[in-house]
Amino acid sequence: MKKRIFSGAQPTGELHIGNYLGALKNWVALQDEYASFYCIVNLHAITLPQDPKVLRQKTLDLARIYLAAGVDPEKCTIFIQSDVPEHAELTWVLSCLTRMGELERMTQFKDKGKGNERAGVGLFTYPVLMAADILLYQTDLVPIGQDQKQHLELTRDLAERFNRDFGDTFKIPEPFIPPVGAKIMSLQDPAKKMSKSDENLNGSIFLLDDADTITKKIKRAVTDSGTDINFDETRPAIKNLLTIYQLLSGKTADECVAHFAGSGYGDFKGQLAETVVEFLRPFQVRIKEYDDASLDAILKRGAEKARSIASETLQDVYKKTGIK
Ligand code: AMP
Ligand code: TRP
Repeated sequence: MKKRIFSGAQPTGELHIGNYLGALKNWVALQDEYASFYCIVNLHAITLPQDPKVLRQKTLDLARIYLAAGVDPEKCTIFIQSDVPEHAELTWVLSCLTRMGELERMTQFKDKGKGNERAGVGLFTYPVLMAADILLYQTDLVPIGQDQKQHLELTRDLAERFNRDFGDTFKIPEPFIPPVGAKIMSLQDPAKKMSKSDENLNGSIFLLDDADTITKKIKRAVTDSGTDINFDETRPAIKNLLTIYQLLSGKTADECVAHFAGSGYGDFKGQLAETVVEFLRPFQVRIKEYDDASLDAILKRGAEKARSIASETLQDVYKKTGIK
């Protein structure tokens, strides 16, 4: 039997090129080798306030983005988290095993919620829901960007704790963090990751940006002092731009450096903008290909398949814990 993958993204904000390079690109690359489950995690989205109508629309839009990025519904299971109620149910059981201190150490919570009087409890327990997502499917591999590594470590700890206390139940999942592209940085501040929630829109290239916007954003991107175009750690802005170029052009690191030897920043940015625009063009065409009915059918089929596996795991958990 094929090994399993599980991953997901939140239907909030606009997906950017960091989400693509850090996560989606690898989902597509791995889908032939693994039985893959790609989820739209709408329950995670409400850990921060959302407009209900917008959330529903974004949930469906994100499914279209998965498809346009090349996730093949004939090979993978694509579904909406809330269509499989076992995710919320397992979260409760796991949250009874999770220690307050473990969640207090999560850096994402510290960034988004700590010190904010109005932060919801859901924002705090968010990593437990993520653990439930993964563990329900007896997942082998979880392709994610660098920012999710700590959440995956918690997932592994919870699985090990449950297995120790109640008997072998969950597979212990491994992270898949790409060697290049796991942390694409903001175009405006190379010390910050490119993020959906960044107020400065010039920091991110969104997958649905038009050619003009992309070109302007790249022209305005901050650079480092000096003139060389290379992957030097001390020149993080150029390294970040060159990484984007490398991943989209398919060239090796050495080929990229050789390609731009002697070029100025202006020329480099021009070629980078062209590469990004050319890459996103077919993607932006494909995203319009799925009408509501065919999308519905894909998601319904996905939810049924996911549910058949998730319910088996949850029944086992309920039996082992004496709930049933
Ligand atoms: P999210 O947008 O938080 O739902 O993230 C979806 C996926 O994109 C996760 O696997 C993240 O780790 C990944 N990701 C988010 N931001 C970046 C970034 N700047 N660089 C690389 N990967 C990222
Ligand atoms: N927490 C992840 C993020 O914000 C999204 C996510 C939820 C996820 N559940 C998951 C990623 C399970 C991988 C596996 O990016």
